Amino acid sequence: MNVPKHVAIIMDGNGRWATKKGLARSAGHLEGSKTLEKLAIHAVDMGVNILSVYAFSTDNFKRSKEEVDYLMDLFIKMFKTKFDKITKRGIKVVISGRKTNLRSDVIEAIQNIEEKTKNNQAGALNICLNYGGQEEIVDGAIRLAKDIKNGLDVEGFTRDDFYHYLYQDLPPIDLLIRTGGELRISNFMLYQMSYSEFYFTNTLFPDFDKSEFNKALFIYENRDRRFGALNDKESN
Ligand code: FPP
Repeated sequence: MNVPKHVAIIMDGNGRWATKKGLARSAGHLEGSKTLEKLAIHAVDMGVNILSVYAFSTDNFKRSKEEVDYLMDLFIKMFKTKFDKITKRGIKVVISGRKTNLRSDVIEAIQNIEEKTKNNQAGALNICLNYGGQEEIVDGAIRLAKDIKNGLDVEGFTRDDFYHYLYQDLPPIDLLIRTGGELRISNFMLYQMSYSEFYFTNTLFPDFDKSEFNKALFIYENRDRRFGALNDKESN
């Protein structure tokens, strides 16, 4: 089976999932966090090395204070106590995004989970929190500019070299999944997505279970990835 090495998920639809059930939006986020916990382990079991997820965008701060506070408290709770299975499965947890604007207790929980899992090697879970794709490129460009100012020779610098200037040194995304029915990228991992395959589904994130994930893997397996070249049949 041709398994994607790096899968990214835009976990959309938590709010609608809750509203449909007559519950508060927060109930959807809680259910979404349980779905993520299961998927992170399942992805590694299926041979996926890296799972990147969009947990909170820089623009999500525009939501009500109540919802933002709930999400921040949920992240802390998950990192502190609920990620045991993920930790035990040997998954390294890394958090990508700007630390500015984040509460100090959130930053502390991030540091703890990263420290606790830093030597894990079974796979990686990259949680994008206070994250923006354009912001990541800008932050990388600023770091590169500083290195150049300090004498870095950029003769022959390639697009692959720029990966080292992103928040994490991860490989490109092979498969992007967006749940919840919207057909857009919403400022997620723009640099890493240049040759990704896209899979959009109407399924709301809390309902995106292992079998839904496997469906996406199956569709990916049957895609013809050419990276701008021709496939064998076309070049003959
Ligand atoms: C988008 O759905 C989802 C979010 C903004 C939050 C995603 C967070 C989780 C799944 C919890 C993850 C937990 C950890 C520990 C990382 P939405 O609220 O925009 O849904 P809607 O489009 O139906 O309103």
